[in-house]
Amino acid sequence: MKVCVIGTGYVGLVSGVCFAEIGNTVFCVDKDKDKIELLKAGKVPIYEEGLAELIKKNIKNGNLVFHTDTSSGIKESDIIFICVGTPPLPSGKPNLSAIDEVAKLIGQSINGYKIILNKSTVPIGTAKRIKKIIKENQNDGNKNYDFDIVSNPEFLKEGEAVKDAFFPERIVIGSESKKAIEIMKKLYEPIINQDFGYAVNNTNKRDKVPILLTDSTSAELIKYASNAFLATKISFVNEIANICERVGANILDVTYGMGLDSRIGSRFMKAGIGWGGSCFPKDVRALSYTTEEYGSPASILNAVIQVNNYQIFKVVQKAMDMLGIIDDKIIGVLGLSFKPNTNDTREAPSVIIINKFLELGAEVRVYDPIVKEYPENMDKGAIMSASPYRAVKGANLMVLVTEWSEFYDLDFKKVKSLMANCNILDGRNILDRQKLQKMGFKYAGIGY
Ligand code: UGA
Repeated sequence: MKVCVIGTGYVGLVSGVCFAEIGNTVFCVDKDKDKIELLKAGKVPIYEEGLAELIKKNIKNGNLVFHTDTSSGIKESDIIFICVGTPPLPSGKPNLSAIDEVAKLIGQSINGYKIILNKSTVPIGTAKRIKKIIKENQNDGNKNYDFDIVSNPEFLKEGEAVKDAFFPERIVIGSESKKAIEIMKKLYEPIINQDFGYAVNNTNKRDKVPILLTDSTSAELIKYASNAFLATKISFVNEIANICERVGANILDVTYGMGLDSRIGSRFMKAGIGWGGSCFPKDVRALSYTTEEYGSPASILNAVIQVNNYQIFKVVQKAMDMLGIIDDKIIGVLGLSFKPNTNDTREAPSVIIINKFLELGAEVRVYDPIVKEYPENMDKGAIMSASPYRAVKGANLMVLVTEWSEFYDLDFKKVKSLMANCNILDGRNILDRQKLQKMGFKYAGIGY
């Protein structure tokens, strides 16, 4: 099939590559000329395992084409995916201007029957809004062309995006049109049956992927409710971790014990510095906004946000407990991305923590294996270090904020010899507390 993917962010790029790899012709369009030039040259602006190789392969075999002309991408395709950003406004309400702009352009460019899919995380009712805007923008020359709207939320996780795109746990198709649903089933058939070249001998291959067919509003809500539920799980665990510290319990044992109940499960049960990233903060706020907009209380959602804000602050408080006064102290921070295996620092709790340390007068040295540039909202007073050892040299405290695999195997003898004071604050509970304490470190985790 001929597919146009509008927007080459995480979702657009990974989805585009996936549809190309399973045999479709995909036009990935973006109005950002520099980004498209980079992509054409096979250079990927985001760090995602396996993505660069797949992009190069599919450019070469002609299945993947990058360009900046959205209108021609729409005209050349039967299926159009909208994958543009929906950043939050100060109220928490998502900003839909990029979606509206694309819908307008689709209305102006439509030249035959098209299926328009929304993959971006959008407020309830956006499918209907897109339909209205497209209709309003059809002109005398193209007003008779029919189209259908489908809500097809994306569930990929950053750092595992390629795997999630090819081997998803479910596919959700929400539409009021039977015709569109049948075409979508056809498009997704290789993924549903796990029958494509990339799947052969791949350890992530599933037997079959479940597909859920529903109306567009329910599909939109499935996406929000899933992210909000996951964020709730983490905030809940973080709250229990704080109780653990008060009563002398161990969060690792508590969550393990809880997770053995299959109704609870052991995943997404890690206490830490609070959730961040480009999705959870935005989506929980947006769902809370929508819930209240429709006259229903968002009590749980608001509490989930509140617990998370407190958790980030708690890390700073713990550092204060270890150091006494922070002013003039040297703090080595390990990690910057909001989670490992990605270079994304959007709404990363690490940035808030670093800024607070600087505000309190500390010298902060930061090391991240992938992030080498200052995140937009990070205070430039922080010093970027070339290695974890440089970051902790002369430091009074080491704070681990992202659980990158290389931090598990640090040479702690070397770390000890470099630090001015052997204080470790493990914001992800990944280090061996007993071993470190035996070596003479003062160790603090989250909830144990
Ligand atoms: C999240 C969802 O997991 C995806 O299913 C969804 O498709 C995506 O948002 C999206 O809406 O696009 P992502 O933001 O990439 O994916 O990251 P997660 O792996 O979910 O982690 C989110 C945050 O929770 C991170 O800050 C992470 O450190 C934190 N976390 C996660 C914990 O603190 N504890 C855990 O046990 C798990």
